[in-house]
Amino acid sequence: MKNIRKGLFAFALMGFALIFVQCKNEKKDENNQAEDTAENQKVLIKKSDFGTTPEGELVEMFTLTNAGGMEVKVITYGGRITSLKAPDKIGNYEDVVLGFDSIEQYTKDNPYFGALIGRYGNRIAQGRFSLDGEEYELAQNNGENHLHGGEKGFDKVIWNATPEEGENSSSLVLTYTSEDMEEGYPGKLDVTVTYTLFNDNSFDVNYEATTDKKTVINLTQHAYFNLSGDFSETILDHIIKINADKFVPVDENLIPTGDLMDVEDTPFDFLETKEVAEGINADNEQIQRGGGYDHNWVLNNQDSGMRFAASAYEPESGRFMEVYTDEPGMQFYTGNFLDGTLPAQGGGNYEKRTGFCFETQHYPDSPNQESFPSVVLEPGETYVSNTSFKFSVK
Ligand code: BGC
Repeated sequence: MKNIRKGLFAFALMGFALIFVQCKNEKKDENNQAEDTAENQKVLIKKSDFGTTPEGELVEMFTLTNAGGMEVKVITYGGRITSLKAPDKIGNYEDVVLGFDSIEQYTKDNPYFGALIGRYGNRIAQGRFSLDGEEYELAQNNGENHLHGGEKGFDKVIWNATPEEGENSSSLVLTYTSEDMEEGYPGKLDVTVTYTLFNDNSFDVNYEATTDKKTVINLTQHAYFNLSGDFSETILDHIIKINADKFVPVDENLIPTGDLMDVEDTPFDFLETKEVAEGINADNEQIQRGGGYDHNWVLNNQDSGMRFAASAYEPESGRFMEVYTDEPGMQFYTGNFLDGTLPAQGGGNYEKRTGFCFETQHYPDSPNQESFPSVVLEPGETYVSNTSFKFSVK
């Protein structure tokens, strides 16, 4: 009897010991899981080779991925966004930025796909401007005008890239030094552009620059968006809102006339949400000059720093993109010059109006337009410009 009791006691003891070990292990698993989740919630950056330019320069690609699965790919050639995957309303991640598969295609002639634009976003009339009585001559690379920084603008140079991982975000810091008189612009310009992907599906673009001589500057980002995720579709069904009471009318060569025009009662009124298709073929002189929308909107509340500028919504996918900026203007360009000659990622070609750009910036030709907000940068000053693209679904 005594032995039986002893046996039972030993058995119970073993049982307790087992339960204790199991509990401890469970706790350990929980901790591990917590560690894993924290790890997974970091926005990760991976680096790979993208190829070499015809001049033999190595081009790297950086892939930023956030906790939810949003992914942005950037190459060092032109600081170009080659792909941006955002979720639709059923959680499908698809690329919403027009791009190419290879470096060959990026280095061939193309309309600034995904590129950083500098030193001057959009046109400067006749490729000329003066500062302190001195005249500067730039490349006339768009008819008689200068466009997007010239023959070899910031879209075609190799940027130095440094990844930086934060708590809820990851950044790619791109730097480039543009020498004095590069593409005809005065001053040695040190430029830093930081792309940051956050876990809340925001993607920020922050620009900074300093110069050693008085110069002009107007940087922007030239991603073509198609929120449907299907590049064989046009963007005509996208529903747009732009927080601007006025826009910048242009002449036949897309150079600002110098006036600012009210959007009221024109196809340029996007104060209330409106489908692109509604006004893009309107019988309107400005629409005809742009071949659709290719104009700079004068954003409201210019003294309030970062504020809502515009949004785009694609009803079928439910994808919604909001843009916030501290810039005075935004070029809304509806891909009117895409002509079906460039190969689309995933097959087919990029046809007319299969992408749109929201280029936050100062107005075109500002160096020659005294009434426009100034684009002059002096030595000792820092040029700062910020834009945030926020992705969600509706
Ligand atoms: C301009 C268009 C130009 C395009 C180049 C846009 O920013 O507004 O006029 O054709 O860039 O692809």
